[in-house]
This record gives sequence, C-alpha cells and structure tokens, in this order.
Amino acid sequence: SSRPNRRIAIDGPAGTGKSTLARTLAGRVGGAYLDTGAMYRAATLHVLRAGIDPEDGDAVSAATADLPLEIGTDAGAERILLASEDVSEEIRTAPVTANVSAVSAVAQVRENLVRLQRRLAAGGGTVVLEGRDIGTVVLPDAEVKIYLTASPEVRARRRTDQDRAAGRAAEYEEVLAAVIERDRKDSTRAASPLRPAADAVVIDTSDLTLEEVLDRLVALAEETEASQ
Ligand code: DC
Repeated sequence: SSRPNRRIAIDGPAGTGKSTLARTLAGRVGGAYLDTGAMYRAATLHVLRAGIDPEDGDAVSAATADLPLEIGTDAGAERILLASEDVSEEIRTAPVTANVSAVSAVAQVRENLVRLQRRLAAGGGTVVLEGRDIGTVVLPDAEVKIYLTASPEVRARRRTDQDRAAGRAAEYEEVLAAVIERDRKDSTRAASPLRPAADAVVIDTSDLTLEEVLDRLVALAEETEASQ
C-alpha cells in the first residue's frame, strides 16, 4: 500500500486494561487492531488438539511450523480462524490459558508469529498492535510505543472482579500469587522477555480509570505523524 503507516505498539502484562484499551483506541483513531496474544493462544490450542506436550519444544516447533492461522484486523470484529474454524472463544478457555506460557516460550513459535505480525502491520494506515514484545522485538521502529503497567495488587483485584463477573470462582490471594508468578516467568524468560522498550511511554494505570488512560493514548496517537 502507498498509504502512510502509523504503527501503535501497546505492551504490558495482563490486568492493565491493555486489551480493552488497545481495541477501543483502534476504534477511536480509525485503525486496524491486532491482538498478538490471540495468536499465541491459537498456536497453543493447535498443539493441545494435536496431543503434543506443550513443554516439548521440538514437537511444538514442528507442529506449528505451518500453522493454518487466519486473523482479522478489523477493530470490533476480530475473529481468529484455525484451519477455517472460528476459535475466538475456545482460545480463552482454561486449558489454553494454562499452557500458553510454555508454547510462547518456544523461539521457533515466536519467529513464525512475529513474521506474520510484521506482515499484518505493514498494510498501510493506522494499526494498533497489542502484546508483550511489540515495541521491543516485533516493531522496534513503531511510530508510537506505549507500555502499560499496574501494581500486582491492582491487577489481581481487576482479574478477581472480572472472573467473578463472568461467573468463575476466584480468590484474591490466589490470583495475586498467580499474577506475581506469571510476572516473574514472563520477565525472566530467554526469548523476548516482557519489558518496556527504552523509548516507550510508560503509563501506570493503578490509579487511573480506563477513560483517563484512553484519553492519554488518543493524545499520544494524535500527536504522532504517520511515516511514509
Ligand atoms: O495477552 P494474552 O493473555 O492473551 O496473552 C497470552 C499469552 O501469550 C501470555 O501468556 C503471553 C504470551 N504473549 C507473548 O508471549 N507475546 C505476545 N506478543 C503476546 C502474548
């Protein structure tokens, strides 16, 4: 495409409001939206369906080398297909969530998905990419880089409330322990550890409402020119 590209990278851990914010921002600025976590979840579902041990890196690499993955980038109408089957709901289930860390730690899986992410980001116009390593690895030259954080306590509280609202049992103390453990794993893994890019705008959302954060994101996007 000859349209100028404005790529907005939004990274950070779970529980910061990242998904809601990234999707809403894309709608506000008339951009496309790519949820890269959904791609790692789809790869994980594929591995589980094939009966492969998610901890077996070689088998996971082989099984995902030609992942039959299709992902739409229309904000508000995202869907993800695996071999033409819509798996948008199934990738959010507990078995996938429990195994996605292992699958996303496999370097070959990351390489394949990052290649696809870069291709999808290069279509022209504005695109919001949400993940853990967009500003550091996927698009180190993104026009806008945002890193969302919040204290472990706030993220655990949000997750507990979300689970209960969705009818799932959740104990705050257990959720907090899981949040702290996942932070440790995500930020110490060898392949693309979770950390802000040196040039990212870091926003601590602990004491802000979603609307307050969204206003800041829209302002950051609007002050940035698209590059040719
Ligand atoms: O954002 P999420 O919870 O849907 O992400 C699912 C998992 O995928 C999460 O454990 C981290 C991993 N992930 C990743 O390693 N790199 C990304 N760019 C996005 C997600």
